[in-house]
Amino acid sequence: MKKVLVAGASGYLGKYVVKEFKEQGYHVSVIARNALKLNEVKEYTDEQVICEITNADSIKGICKDVDIVFSAVGITKQKDGLTYMDVDYRANKNLLEETKSAGVDKFIYISVFGAHKMKQLKAIQAKLKFEEELKASGIDYTIIYPNGFFSDMMEYLNMAKKGKGMVIGSGENKINPIHGADLAEVCVNAASGDEKEIEVGGPDVFTHREIFEIAFKALNKKVKVSGFPVWMKNIMLWFLRTFTSVKTYGPLEFFMTVLSNDMIAPKYGKRKLEEFFYKSV
Ligand SMILES: NC(=O)c1ccc[n+]([C@@H]2O[C@H](COP(=O)([O-])OP(=O)(O)OC[C@H]3O[C@@H](n4cnc5c(N)ncnc54)[C@H](OP(=O)(O)O)[C@@H]3O)[C@@H](O)[C@H]2O)c1
Repeated sequence: MKKVLVAGASGYLGKYVVKEFKEQGYHVSVIARNALKLNEVKEYTDEQVICEITNADSIKGICKDVDIVFSAVGITKQKDGLTYMDVDYRANKNLLEETKSAGVDKFIYISVFGAHKMKQLKAIQAKLKFEEELKASGIDYTIIYPNGFFSDMMEYLNMAKKGKGMVIGSGENKINPIHGADLAEVCVNAASGDEKEIEVGGPDVFTHREIFEIAFKALNKKVKVSGFPVWMKNIMLWFLRTFTSVKTYGPLEFFMTVLSNDMIAPKYGKRKLEEFFYKSV
């Protein structure tokens, strides 16, 4: 039986990946910094190790007898006072070093769809820096570039709950978000595949305005969406980049960039955003 080590198992995608690896017959080890956050996936794991991936000493020997390493470790909404370089780059690099010394067969890493077109963003720079290390490591790898997750679409539902949606410009830019369970299938299939890079999004393409319409419909509320002028977005970003630290402006510049561009990735999966919203209200 192949043994996989999942890092980021406490996160939205990580939990689905743990379940999918188990269902596909792997021996599943997970690492996380908080045991409580693993409760949801406990039944799908064979081994749980509580450690700090940001501290290289804390994960020494973690990859012993491991065949596949999977990492979804990255800053999304965490407010730990750490930077993208600390986590998306260095923490994953710590894991890669362990991978190298243990003779692991393959490293699967989660990046972001369109990363190479968003090199100016701090969140992306840290991911691309890690990708360079991974590519140069000599270890077989797959880098997955997924579009926005359904979990992030909750922001639309939360705004709709408050009564008003906000889009950038006319809100006509498009995206095909993906459910964690669909993406987990892609991640686990990559363990036995030979593709080095996989771009992937969900089955349906929506404008940002349409996502709000679905959210309001799920709540049985009248649709109310306003446009945030593009020029104002640019001034706001300049202001944030000039007067705040990367911990504040990093997530905002990322989301504003995603919202103001078409992000259409190769389609995969069957889970519907409508259903996700109806289940979440
Ligand atoms: N969400 C999206 O729409 C989206 C789209 C494309 C790509 N991605 C990328 O996919 C990856 C997973 O995203 P997700 O939405 O599943 O994120 P998530 O739910 O926030 O999970 C992130 C994982 O990274 C871990 N992590 C973060 N900071 C850490 C730290 N300082 N020390 C140790 N562990 C830390 C988290 O651990 P804790 O649970 O302990 O915080 C969690 O296990 C991220 O790299 C993200 O950038 C996300």
